[in-house]
Amino acid sequence: MTIQTLLKMGDPRLLQMAQPVTEGQWGSPQLMALVADLWETMDASNGAGLAAPQIGVDWQVVVFGTGKVNPRYPDAPLVDPTVLCNPVIIPLDSQGGTQGPIPEEVAWEGCLSVPGMRGQVPRASHIRYTGFDAMGRAIDRVVSGFHARVVQHECDHLWGTLYPMRIRDMRQFGFNEVLFPQLT
Ligand code: NI
Repeated sequence: MTIQTLLKMGDPRLLQMAQPVTEGQWGSPQLMALVADLWETMDASNGAGLAAPQIGVDWQVVVFGTGKVNPRYPDAPLVDPTVLCNPVIIPLDSQGGTQGPIPEEVAWEGCLSVPGMRGQVPRASHIRYTGFDAMGRAIDRVVSGFHARVVQHECDHLWGTLYPMRIRDMRQFGFNEVLFPQLT
């Protein structure tokens, strides 16, 4: 396990579509080592999640959740530690279906690849997400709120999208030390 260097916004590797994990790679030493590095690198920076492209690995793998209070997001609800590969996100309407309008909520996000900043980002309030853990076992969850936000943020990294690209009101984007002096 190694704390890896985090790529920062401006690096073209953060703007690529990552490669899916393929059959035969589940549980492989390479995948397990990547997962260990993602957890260690995330914990070292008090991240809420981390995606493989953020440490320069071109693979559809994210980790998120800590099961304990995060000093960078002290008010966030707890999310169980999860490894998610090859994710698919389905935004849900207020009935839990996909036919109606998709409710959104706007909240502050930060990113270890955009250090020192926060922005107000709209996300689907409710999602279903599917994918696989590192052993290739299926994951299928319906979640809301902060959990849904973290999943959408991390999976965006696999598709080459950083949260500033989703901010609608750029007046709601700024430096942590100014926006949240109590956290710094
Ligand atoms: Ni991020």
